[in-house]
Amino acid sequence: MTHYDPLAAQAAFPTDFVWGVATSAFQIEGASTADGKGLSIWDSFCRQSGAIADASNGDVACEHYKRWEEDLDMIAGLGVDAYRFSVSWPRVRPTGSGEWNEAGLAFYEKLVDGLLARGIKPYLTLNHWDLPQALQDGGGWGNRDTVHRFVEYACGMAERLGDRVVSIATHNEPWVMAQLGHEVGIFAPGLKDRKLAAQVSHHLLLSHGLALQALRAQGCKAQLGLVLNLSPMHVATDSAADRAKAVLDDGRVVRWYMDPLFKGRYPQDVLDDLGADAPQVQPGDMEVITTPMDFLGVNYYSRSVISAGEPWDVRSSGREVTDMGWEVYPEGLTELLLRLHRDYPVPPLFVTENGGAFKDELNADGRVHDAGRTRYIATHIAAVDAAMKQGVRMGGYMVWSLMDNFEWASGYEKRFGIVHVDYATQARTLKDSARWYRDFLQQQRAQR
Ligand code: FCB
Repeated sequence: MTHYDPLAAQAAFPTDFVWGVATSAFQIEGASTADGKGLSIWDSFCRQSGAIADASNGDVACEHYKRWEEDLDMIAGLGVDAYRFSVSWPRVRPTGSGEWNEAGLAFYEKLVDGLLARGIKPYLTLNHWDLPQALQDGGGWGNRDTVHRFVEYACGMAERLGDRVVSIATHNEPWVMAQLGHEVGIFAPGLKDRKLAAQVSHHLLLSHGLALQALRAQGCKAQLGLVLNLSPMHVATDSAADRAKAVLDDGRVVRWYMDPLFKGRYPQDVLDDLGADAPQVQPGDMEVITTPMDFLGVNYYSRSVISAGEPWDVRSSGREVTDMGWEVYPEGLTELLLRLHRDYPVPPLFVTENGGAFKDELNADGRVHDAGRTRYIATHIAAVDAAMKQGVRMGGYMVWSLMDNFEWASGYEKRFGIVHVDYATQARTLKDSARWYRDFLQQQRAQR
């Protein structure tokens, strides 16, 4: 582990490197119908029997909608530079078209002003998966009209907050929304249609590019970009079949998004594989998708280990795995960042999510000794440092997540927070990892 000694990492980070913590609206806010909020596809999906491991939902979550001030104080106490959060689209525009909801807009305005008052930079994500259900009823992301509704939403938010947020990401993890939501069906809206999933991915990319153009035309000064989930694809064995599958999976997850964004075309091998399921692309779409970004967000949790006999990643190396069953593989982050830097003309990269679920215990002394999570975060920070030392332009690093929250199909069973949440009382307790991060950031600041 010496190569990833976090102490070695400390010296290297530039003074303007942005350290943060991240959350998303549906996972923490609760108040799913309060003050005029409309329903999202995740509100509906949670009601499908068997969809969520513990049959839970986002109705209460971490009650952040109510406890936001206390949460902002807690974030400030960590000494981070930035807080990455998302806006719930149906909270601010309940049906995704038509009337805006002033109470919802006011909530995010208070949140952003509260961050600024505490000296924390607001990093806003527009779409962290909670599409208004009314838009889903009209075909959701499979319908090209939704692209235009998204652009209206982006413009509305920028009009209201664009002068105060530092950064706006259009979408979080389009691959997850398209594939897990529309092809595998384990995430909202729970559909199983490969052709639809491919079309959804195209519409997400198109809406990203159009939103960037519209926000810039509106004079929005925030840094604009997109957040992708990416990982290096390794092979389970050296067989030709495993190698071919790894190349195709790299195409599906990495190149399917990176190629259109930075090269203006979908990868041919994946188009060939999709055949008649390939998306309909209209003239001009690719020019829109290549609209330059100010930053690219990368969410990294693990590498993927590919075996030709398995539809999905097998992650079978005998190394430590987190409570999600995801292998702890920090060197994969260095490898990924170097590859993006080498293969694409990328803007500054941000690690917009990185962290781990572990089986935490709140001890009688009020402490959570989550050494595994601390080690995970420290070694991944060192992996970012290693990439920077090899020339990758990095803008920042954000821990997923600020606090335990609703982990999608896993419900509340998986805990990613550096802050523990007792769901019965909503008490927040800093885990050892939060204390470590706070001390690490203090050392960073002392060196500035
Ligand atoms: C990412 C999501 C985030 C969180 C982490 C664990 O895919 O963006 O909301 O659930 O995984």
